[in-house]
Amino acid sequence: MSIGIVGLGYVGLPLAMVFAEAGYDVVGVDVDAQKVATLCDGRSHIEDVPDERVQAALARCSFTTRFVELHEAEAVLICVPTPLNANREPDLGPLLGAARSLAAVLRREQVIVLESTTFPGTTREHLVPLLEESGLCAGEDFALAFSPERVDPGRTDYTITNTPKIVGGLTSECTDRAVEVYRRVCSTVVPVSAPEVAELSKLLENVFRSVNIALVNELAILADRMGIDIWEVIDAASTKPFGFMRFEPGPGMGGHCLPVDPFYLTWKAREYDMATEFIELAGKVNTNMPYFCLEKIERALNDERKSVRGARILVLGVSYKAGVGDLRESPAVKLLRLLNERGADLTYHDPFVPALADLGLEHSADLDAALEDIDLAVIVTAHPGVDHQAVVDAAPRVLDLRGITRKMPRVAHVEQL
Ligand SMILES: NC(=O)c1ccc[n+]([C@@H]2O[C@H](COP(=O)([O-])OP(=O)(O)OC[C@H]3O[C@@H](n4cnc5c(N)ncnc54)[C@H](O)[C@@H]3O)[C@@H](O)[C@H]2O)c1
Repeated sequence: MSIGIVGLGYVGLPLAMVFAEAGYDVVGVDVDAQKVATLCDGRSHIEDVPDERVQAALARCSFTTRFVELHEAEAVLICVPTPLNANREPDLGPLLGAARSLAAVLRREQVIVLESTTFPGTTREHLVPLLEESGLCAGEDFALAFSPERVDPGRTDYTITNTPKIVGGLTSECTDRAVEVYRRVCSTVVPVSAPEVAELSKLLENVFRSVNIALVNELAILADRMGIDIWEVIDAASTKPFGFMRFEPGPGMGGHCLPVDPFYLTWKAREYDMATEFIELAGKVNTNMPYFCLEKIERALNDERKSVRGARILVLGVSYKAGVGDLRESPAVKLLRLLNERGADLTYHDPFVPALADLGLEHSADLDAALEDIDLAVIVTAHPGVDHQAVVDAAPRVLDLRGITRKMPRVAHVEQL
């Protein structure tokens, strides 16, 4: 009996590895034939999963585009994307597509678990009817549960195995069966009473981060106007041993989760005649941050009697967070677009992102060479391994949007967010 994983991205591939490494046979299914071919070849497309790990797992792990190979699986864990459409409404297309394909091969006694982040009610209202097109009954013929993925890409202290796993089944038996599957690889599994509880708990976690980041971003803008160092304020507040949790300001929120997931809840809340104002406001503040950073760039250049047009600006770090190459919703990309529209002469350096072809930036510049002839260096994402001290030493002016230069000796030409 094997474990099936549907969707082999940031969530699905590490999950497949963990089950294979625990000694289970794994069948990984993805609609992206290119991705599947690369994985079959022992090459990974996810930074957290080195090629060697995929190669070692190949003994137990098979990758395919064919859903039919899930027929024999004991459990199938669905990890497909849940994006927003052009109108910023939930796009359940990949999820519904996966559910339809799965329904065609579903077998009695299987355990099906949805891991993709989504609004409360998705499992019961959308997944059940599609899976029941198989002729089997959810909760009776097969078990169905929701279990949110909590992985934080790039993180090594908390991983799939030691981050508590929440599981909410359609019935208590569904919960028990899904809990049993996850106990094989997770040290702590937390059963809850229903899929809706599990679905909303994931959104609560993401909204919590989004709202707190927005709060500190708003304070950063105010502190800037008041001439107060926001980083020193945060350091001071963080000395309180209770009742305070540290969040840091930045150029805006990126990635597949925080800029997207809270709006799944906002959308669903409308069905219940409710406007989730905290979520909307947090989104607005965080979305505005690249514009505030642009203003800081304009001011920095203005001090040098320069305009953005024609200014030689080096952007350091373009992925949405340190240590990964993920460009999804990256605020750095938004900032680069704004600077491009204003005629800046742009280069960038990012060891995780070899090219930004959409922006006409064909390669990540060599750092030493790029520092030689610029007006301003802007640290947007502070990747490990990048010599930020060298940036401070060589650049005529530095704008640090991540506070990475705070620990360095203070110098007049370096400014923080
Ligand atoms: N990336 C994160 O940090 C993170 C963390 C927690 C939760 N999540 C959630 O997990 C889910 C997956 O996110 P991700 O970052 O792994 O996405 P991803 O885009 O990296 O990977 C998803 C994979 O699913 C495949 N896919 C799309 N439609 C499919 C279908 N119908 N059948 C089979 N495969 C299909 C895609 O080709 C892709 O390889 C999302 O709901 C996301 O919100 C992501």
